[in-house]
Amino acid sequence: MSTEHGRSPDSVELIDLEGAARERAVPILIDSFVGIYRWHAKRTLRRVSTVRGAEVAGELAAVAMLERLVEGVGYVYYIAVASAHRRERLGQRLLDDALARFQRDRIRIVYAAAEEDNEPSIALFRSRGFRIVERDERSYLEGGLGAKGLRTRMMLVSGEVLLGRFLTDPSSVAPRQDPDLSENR
Ligand SMILES: CC(C)(COP(=O)(O)OP(=O)(O)OC[C@H]1O[C@@H](n2cnc3c(N)ncnc32)[C@H](O)[C@@H]1OP(=O)(O)O)[C@@H](O)C(=O)NCCC(=O)NCCS
Repeated sequence: MSTEHGRSPDSVELIDLEGAARERAVPILIDSFVGIYRWHAKRTLRRVSTVRGAEVAGELAAVAMLERLVEGVGYVYYIAVASAHRRERLGQRLLDDALARFQRDRIRIVYAAAEEDNEPSIALFRSRGFRIVERDERSYLEGGLGAKGLRTRMMLVSGEVLLGRFLTDPSSVAPRQDPDLSENR
Protein backbone atom coordinates (compact mmCIF):
# COMPACT_ATOMS: atom_id res chain seq x y z
CA MET A 1 0.00 0.00 0.00
CA SER A 2 1.54 3.32 -1.00
CA THR A 3 0.46 5.87 1.58
CA GLU A 4 3.29 8.34 1.33
CA HIS A 5 2.41 12.01 1.02
CA GLY A 6 0.20 12.74 -1.95
CA ARG A 7 -0.27 9.10 -3.02
CA SER A 8 -3.54 7.23 -2.90
CA PRO A 9 -3.64 3.87 -1.14
CA ASP A 10 -3.72 1.01 -3.62
CA SER A 11 -7.23 -0.16 -2.82
CA VAL A 12 -9.81 2.54 -2.21
CA GLU A 13 -13.47 1.72 -2.60
CA LEU A 14 -16.11 4.43 -2.78
CA ILE A 15 -19.43 3.38 -1.28
CA ASP A 16 -22.89 4.74 -0.48
CA LEU A 17 -23.69 5.05 3.20
CA GLU A 18 -27.37 4.66 4.02
CA GLY A 19 -29.33 4.49 7.27
CA ALA A 20 -27.54 2.93 10.22
CA ALA A 21 -24.37 2.44 8.16
CA ARG A 22 -23.85 6.21 8.29
CA GLU A 23 -22.91 5.84 11.97
CA ARG A 24 -19.63 4.35 10.75
CA ALA A 25 -18.63 7.89 9.79
CA VAL A 26 -19.08 9.37 13.28
CA PRO A 27 -15.49 8.65 14.44
CA ILE A 28 -14.19 10.50 11.34
CA LEU A 29 -16.33 13.51 12.19
CA ILE A 30 -15.16 13.47 15.81
CA ASP A 31 -11.60 13.31 14.49
CA SER A 32 -12.17 16.14 12.01
CA PHE A 33 -14.37 18.74 13.69
CA VAL A 34 -14.78 20.39 17.09
CA GLY A 35 -17.58 22.32 18.79
CA ILE A 36 -20.58 23.43 16.78
CA TYR A 37 -19.13 22.03 13.55
CA ARG A 38 -18.88 18.55 15.03
CA TRP A 39 -22.47 18.76 16.25
CA HIS A 40 -23.69 20.06 12.90
CA ALA A 41 -21.67 17.53 10.90
CA LYS A 42 -23.16 14.65 12.90
CA ARG A 43 -26.65 16.04 12.50
CA THR A 44 -26.13 16.52 8.77
CA LEU A 45 -24.77 12.97 8.43
CA ARG A 46 -28.14 11.65 9.57
CA ARG A 47 -30.28 14.04 7.49
CA VAL A 48 -28.51 14.71 4.23
CA SER A 49 -29.69 12.96 1.08
CA THR A 50 -26.37 11.45 -0.02
CA VAL A 51 -23.42 10.23 2.00
CA ARG A 52 -20.45 8.72 0.21
CA GLY A 53 -17.59 6.99 1.95
CA ALA A 54 -14.07 5.93 1.01
CA GLU A 55 -12.96 2.58 2.38
CA VAL A 56 -9.32 1.63 2.61
CA ALA A 57 -8.87 -2.10 3.15
CA GLY A 58 -12.45 -2.29 4.41
CA GLU A 59 -12.01 0.52 6.93
CA LEU A 60 -14.00 3.71 6.46
CA ALA A 61 -11.39 6.44 6.07
CA ALA A 62 -13.27 9.42 4.58
CA VAL A 63 -16.78 10.70 4.07
CA ALA A 64 -18.62 13.27 1.91
CA MET A 65 -22.12 14.66 2.48
CA LEU A 66 -23.95 15.93 -0.59
CA GLU A 67 -27.26 17.67 -1.18
CA ARG A 68 -29.21 19.16 -4.06
CA LEU A 69 -30.32 22.57 -2.74
CA VAL A 70 -32.66 23.58 -5.59
CA GLU A 71 -32.90 22.55 -9.22
CA GLY A 72 -29.46 22.61 -10.79
CA VAL A 73 -27.61 23.54 -7.59
CA GLY A 74 -25.54 21.07 -5.57
CA TYR A 75 -23.89 21.54 -2.21
CA VAL A 76 -20.99 19.70 -0.62
CA TYR A 77 -21.88 20.00 3.06
CA TYR A 78 -18.81 18.27 4.40
CA ILE A 79 -15.82 16.29 3.29
CA ALA A 80 -13.81 14.77 6.11
CA VAL A 81 -10.85 12.43 6.06
CA ALA A 82 -9.62 10.52 9.12
CA SER A 83 -6.42 12.20 10.26
CA ALA A 84 -4.43 8.97 9.76
CA HIS A 85 -5.37 9.06 6.07
CA ARG A 86 -4.90 12.71 5.15
CA ARG A 87 -2.88 13.66 2.06
CA GLU A 88 -3.63 10.32 0.46
CA ARG A 89 -5.97 11.94 -2.08
CA LEU A 90 -9.08 10.55 -0.44
CA GLY A 91 -10.59 14.02 -0.17
CA GLN A 92 -9.90 14.61 -3.82
CA ARG A 93 -11.32 11.21 -4.79
CA LEU A 94 -14.54 11.95 -2.91
CA LEU A 95 -14.78 15.43 -4.41
CA ASP A 96 -14.29 14.06 -7.94
CA ASP A 97 -16.94 11.46 -7.20
CA ALA A 98 -19.30 14.16 -5.92
CA LEU A 99 -18.80 16.29 -9.04
CA ALA A 100 -19.42 13.28 -11.29
CA ARG A 101 -22.63 12.42 -9.44
CA PHE A 102 -23.83 16.02 -9.53
CA GLN A 103 -23.13 16.15 -13.26
CA ARG A 104 -25.04 12.91 -13.78
CA ASP A 105 -27.97 14.42 -11.85
CA ARG A 106 -28.02 17.52 -14.07
CA ILE A 107 -26.55 19.78 -11.40
CA ARG A 108 -24.93 22.79 -13.06
CA ILE A 109 -23.36 24.67 -10.16
CA VAL A 110 -21.79 23.30 -7.02
CA TYR A 111 -21.08 25.13 -3.79
CA ALA A 112 -19.10 24.31 -0.68
CA ALA A 113 -18.28 26.25 2.48
CA ALA A 114 -15.05 26.37 4.44
CA GLU A 115 -13.74 28.28 7.40
CA GLU A 116 -11.68 31.12 5.99
CA ASP A 117 -8.51 29.83 7.70
CA ASN A 118 -9.02 26.18 6.69
CA GLU A 119 -6.20 26.03 4.17
CA PRO A 120 -6.40 22.28 3.44
CA SER A 121 -10.08 22.53 2.65
CA ILE A 122 -9.82 25.66 0.50
CA ALA A 123 -6.81 24.17 -1.32
CA LEU A 124 -8.72 20.95 -1.95
CA PHE A 125 -11.67 22.78 -3.50
CA ARG A 126 -9.41 25.10 -5.49
CA SER A 127 -7.58 22.05 -6.85
CA ARG A 128 -10.88 21.04 -8.42
CA GLY A 129 -11.75 24.37 -10.00
CA PHE A 130 -13.70 26.05 -7.19
CA ARG A 131 -13.11 29.68 -6.35
CA ILE A 132 -14.25 31.94 -3.53
CA VAL A 133 -17.61 33.58 -4.18
CA GLU A 134 -17.91 37.25 -3.27
CA ARG A 135 -20.99 38.37 -1.34
CA ASP A 136 -22.03 40.95 -3.96
CA GLU A 137 -21.38 38.72 -6.94
CA ARG A 138 -23.94 38.33 -9.74
CA SER A 139 -26.28 35.44 -9.16
CA TYR A 140 -25.60 32.03 -10.67
CA LEU A 141 -28.73 32.55 -12.73
CA GLU A 142 -27.05 35.59 -14.32
CA GLY A 143 -23.71 33.95 -15.05
CA GLY A 144 -21.89 34.84 -11.81
CA LEU A 145 -21.29 32.51 -8.91
CA GLY A 146 -23.45 34.51 -6.46
CA ALA A 147 -25.74 32.40 -4.32
CA LYS A 148 -28.25 34.98 -3.12
CA GLY A 149 -31.16 33.35 -1.37
CA LEU A 150 -29.26 30.12 -0.87
CA ARG A 151 -26.72 31.14 1.76
CA THR A 152 -29.20 30.51 4.57
CA ARG A 153 -29.99 27.04 3.22
CA MET A 154 -26.25 26.36 3.26
CA MET A 155 -26.11 27.33 6.95
CA LEU A 156 -23.13 29.62 6.29
CA VAL A 157 -21.85 31.26 9.44
CA SER A 158 -19.54 34.16 10.11
CA GLY A 159 -15.89 33.28 9.43
CA GLU A 160 -16.74 30.97 6.56
CA VAL A 161 -16.15 31.51 2.88
CA LEU A 162 -18.37 30.21 0.13
CA LEU A 163 -16.71 28.41 -2.76
CA GLY A 164 -18.36 27.55 -6.02
CA ARG A 165 -17.86 26.33 -9.56
CA PHE A 166 -19.94 25.64 -12.60
CA LEU A 167 -19.97 22.12 -13.94
CA THR A 168 -20.82 23.30 -17.43
CA ASP A 169 -21.53 26.48 -19.35
CA PRO A 170 -23.10 29.03 -16.90
CA SER A 171 -25.85 29.84 -19.43
CA SER A 172 -27.25 26.33 -18.96
CA VAL A 173 -28.21 27.23 -15.37
CA ALA A 174 -30.81 29.78 -16.46
CA PRO A 175 -34.36 28.42 -16.10
CA ARG A 176 -35.62 26.95 -19.33
CA GLN A 177 -38.21 29.02 -21.19
CA ASP A 178 -41.08 27.11 -22.65
CA PRO A 179 -41.61 28.82 -26.06
CA ASP A 180 -45.26 27.74 -26.26
CA LEU A 181 -46.11 29.23 -22.87
CA SER A 182 -44.32 32.54 -23.51
CA GLU A 183 -46.03 32.95 -26.89
CA ASN A 184 -49.44 32.55 -25.26
CA ARG A 185 -48.85 35.23 -22.64
C1 LIG B 1 -9.64 19.10 3.93
C2 LIG B 1 -9.49 17.59 3.87
C3 LIG B 1 -10.85 16.96 3.58
C4 LIG B 1 -8.49 17.26 2.72
O1 LIG B 1 -8.50 15.84 2.51
P1 LIG B 1 -7.21 15.03 2.08
O2 LIG B 1 -7.64 13.67 1.67
O3 LIG B 1 -6.17 15.12 3.15
O4 LIG B 1 -6.69 15.87 0.81
P2 LIG B 1 -6.07 15.27 -0.54
O5 LIG B 1 -4.95 14.32 -0.22
O6 LIG B 1 -7.15 14.72 -1.39
O7 LIG B 1 -5.47 16.57 -1.18
C5 LIG B 1 -5.94 17.11 -2.41
C6 LIG B 1 -5.42 18.52 -2.56
O8 LIG B 1 -5.98 19.33 -1.51
C7 LIG B 1 -4.98 20.26 -1.04
N1 LIG B 1 -4.62 19.96 0.36
C8 LIG B 1 -5.06 18.92 1.09
N2 LIG B 1 -4.55 19.00 2.34
C9 LIG B 1 -3.76 20.09 2.37
C10 LIG B 1 -2.95 20.69 3.38
N3 LIG B 1 -2.85 20.17 4.62
N4 LIG B 1 -2.30 21.83 3.08
C11 LIG B 1 -2.40 22.38 1.85
N5 LIG B 1 -3.13 21.84 0.83
C12 LIG B 1 -3.80 20.72 1.10
C13 LIG B 1 -3.81 20.11 -1.97
O9 LIG B 1 -4.03 20.96 -3.09
C14 LIG B 1 -3.93 18.68 -2.40
O10 LIG B 1 -3.30 18.39 -3.63
P3 LIG B 1 -1.71 18.04 -3.64
O11 LIG B 1 -1.52 16.88 -2.71
O12 LIG B 1 -1.43 17.72 -5.08
O13 LIG B 1 -1.00 19.25 -3.15
C15 LIG B 1 -8.88 17.03 5.19
O14 LIG B 1 -7.76 17.81 5.54
C16 LIG B 1 -9.84 17.02 6.35
O15 LIG B 1 -10.61 16.08 6.54
N6 LIG B 1 -9.83 18.09 7.19
C17 LIG B 1 -10.71 18.14 8.37
C18 LIG B 1 -12.16 18.31 7.99
C19 LIG B 1 -12.38 19.56 7.16
O16 LIG B 1 -11.91 20.64 7.49
N7 LIG B 1 -13.12 19.39 6.06
C20 LIG B 1 -13.39 20.45 5.11
C21 LIG B 1 -14.52 21.31 5.50
S1 LIG B 1 -16.04 20.62 5.02
